[in-house]
Amino acid sequence: MAQQNVVRKEAASVAFENVILDQPETGIYLLTINRPKVLNALNWDTVEDIERAVQSVSTDPGARVLLVTGAGDRAFVAGADITAMANYTPMQAKDYSLMALHAFRNLEDLPIPTVALVNGYCLGGGCELAMSCDWILASDKAVFGQPEVNLGVTPGFGGSQRLLRMVGKAMALELLTTGRQVKADEALRIGLVNHVIPAAELMEKAMEQARLIASKGPVAVRLTKEVAQRGQDMDLFNACVLEGEVFGLTFSTDDQKEGMRAFVEKRPARFTGK
Ligand code: HXC
Repeated sequence: MAQQNVVRKEAASVAFENVILDQPETGIYLLTINRPKVLNALNWDTVEDIERAVQSVSTDPGARVLLVTGAGDRAFVAGADITAMANYTPMQAKDYSLMALHAFRNLEDLPIPTVALVNGYCLGGGCELAMSCDWILASDKAVFGQPEVNLGVTPGFGGSQRLLRMVGKAMALELLTTGRQVKADEALRIGLVNHVIPAAELMEKAMEQARLIASKGPVAVRLTKEVAQRGQDMDLFNACVLEGEVFGLTFSTDDQKEGMRAFVEKRPARFTGK
């Protein structure tokens, strides 16, 4: 077993076949989908590995950020594994879709920010995986699309719904019904990605962003994500009430006392996550 296939430091050691879960710096996890010969296509086992890796990160109270990327320089993920699913029965296809639905939901619900680093093809199930992260950083080589109509199927890992919510109904339906692929600059323009970064700098820029998040009050970061995540499915007023309750909760933490004391004393805060 390769050393890099083992989760190091705070998290328990877990080995995976098709993904690598690493911790390049304390609190910063990097999940790499690792099937480069097939452009990191997602077969059943890979989706299960993603779910187990996410579960492993979720049990580490020291986790601050999860970065998700694809191995090699050609693809983030080129979709669900077409060869593997070509002969599925309808029930197998449904089970595959629902299994991934739960795995991607767990990724979405991870109580820390998650960022997809898209370094090439990001198609079908790959685009759906990226959209299950909190935001996407694209390299200038990234290509996005939901090409399922070319295969005679619909999206099955949530693409018809998440794309709609990210770029609006008109653009989503155009992309979903034509299968048209968009390059990084267009993905930025339609709001699918937050930033476009030269390919060679993608990892370092992502690490800079991850370090910035890791330097903030850990409880506040987690609670901010939780409020945003829960609130988006609520009406605005009740979502804001939830925010107010969580804001009150932060006043029970050492981090709130330290953060505000540090401001008054004109020094950087030393957060402990308590
Ligand atoms: C299985 C895949 C794959 C995929 C690429 N490969 N994508 N295998 N599933 N999704 C394999 C190829 O067969 C090939 O294997 C190797 O990866 C390299 O790919 P090439 O096609 O030779 O590369 P290139 O010519 O550069 O074209 C890249 C590409 C093309 C444009 C990304 O591979 C492509 O169109 N792939 C399929 C994209 C797609 O339709 N994705 C959506 C899938 S459906 P060999 O052995 O020949 O070297 C989906 C639905 C999700 O995601 C919901 C399910 C429930």
